[in-house]
Amino acid sequence: MTRVITYGTFDLFHEGHYRLLQRAKELGDYLIVGVTTEAYDKARGKLNVVDSLVTRIENVRKTGFADEIVIEETQGQKINDIRKFHIDIFVIGSDWTGAFDYVKDYCDVVYLERTKNISSTMLREKNSPIQRVGIIGTGRIAERFIPEAKLVSGISTQGVYNPHTKSAERFADKWEINFYKDLEAFYQASDVVYIASPHETHYQYIKTSLEHQKHVLCEKPMVLQKKQAEELFECARERKLILLEGIKTAYCPGFHKLLGIACSGIIGNIRNVEACFTKLEAQVSRELTDKKYGGSFTELGSYVMLPIFKIFGKEYNSLQFDSIRDEKGLDLFTRTTLSYPSGVATATCGLGVKSEGRLLIAGTKGYIVAEAPWWKTTYFEVHYENAEKIEKYSEIFLGDGLRYEISDFLSMINGSNSSEFKLTRGESVAMAEIMEKYLRKEGRG
Ligand code: CTP
Repeated sequence: MTRVITYGTFDLFHEGHYRLLQRAKELGDYLIVGVTTEAYDKARGKLNVVDSLVTRIENVRKTGFADEIVIEETQGQKINDIRKFHIDIFVIGSDWTGAFDYVKDYCDVVYLERTKNISSTMLREKNSPIQRVGIIGTGRIAERFIPEAKLVSGISTQGVYNPHTKSAERFADKWEINFYKDLEAFYQASDVVYIASPHETHYQYIKTSLEHQKHVLCEKPMVLQKKQAEELFECARERKLILLEGIKTAYCPGFHKLLGIACSGIIGNIRNVEACFTKLEAQVSRELTDKKYGGSFTELGSYVMLPIFKIFGKEYNSLQFDSIRDEKGLDLFTRTTLSYPSGVATATCGLGVKSEGRLLIAGTKGYIVAEAPWWKTTYFEVHYENAEKIEKYSEIFLGDGLRYEISDFLSMINGSNSSEFKLTRGESVAMAEIMEKYLRKEGRG
């Protein structure tokens, strides 16, 4: 009996997939088809897969060609499968020619000619036309956005707006995109807007963008007042638009895994969360010179509040801020303490004081610790009373990580709501409320 194996994502199942499976089956007596998991696709940079794993498996099954379907979860799995299933022939489309020659040590490798003029990518683009992104703001984060957006299919950065025309022109030159002096022209050329301007300008830009019927991804902190956040989300809802706060940690696969484990019960009931993020900034930086909206809490507070809201929720009993300020009155270091019915939490951030920058989640049976930079989580440990028992978890985090939030934003625009739980509207509103309370307490509100 000749045993054949092939692999693929099989997203938006099409004729090319069908013909590939048909010919693969004809090469032998028994065909095994490996279908990639969502996590594996994300890890290898294939973002924006539309169909769920269950749907993709079902579509492969329905062809009747597969005698067995397996799940492909990791890099390096193919060799193990080939040995485990005693495979004689490894089959893949000609777009991969040469890429799997290393498998020849274990079985025959056949590259089948790819069916012309059809691919999942083409169908994705046809079903959901490319979204043209316009960027407002030209700071450091906007610089990071462009290369990350290039990795997400279905989206293309077309232009930039900044009232300081010189900056916009320089930025546009560097990234070979358009720049606009006029906001109306900018909106006309954009389907979605990414806002990376100074914090205090977010509200007005979001409002105007929504009024121009544009989906919005806005850098954190989205707005600095609860009422503003509520009003903007309501406006987005009425207009059937997506409005998303860009706290990249919320969309990062490793952070997700960590929250899943924290909430699984293995560390018991969670009683304490401590999140710390510090980043020393130059005295002359915007963050330490803007007397009204600068300082560590407005800059980093969203990151450190996030795990606390994710674990304990938005309904805290009490809230207290303690800051160390510079001579201008800006906070160089802020510790926020929240108490909840079932536990306590501290969120610490600093631009002028360096600390270890750790995330610690303590429960009645054990604790989870992720060291800096936990906000780009790649590794964390679970510890117990028995100090010798340590469970270690790792997860991939590629590049600057903005690709994950951009990809989730795009899926939401295209009608999927499977990522909405990662950062809910209610959580963004609660963050805005905390920002508001902080600025008011500092006499800057
Ligand atoms: N395939 C094919 N002909 C096509 C498209 C895909 O023979 N027109 C083959 C691929 O070479 C691979 C298998 O089908 O062996 C699964 O491919 P997959 O990557 O899932 O499909 P694509 O349409 O290539 O997906 P994408 O556009 O997302 O890369």
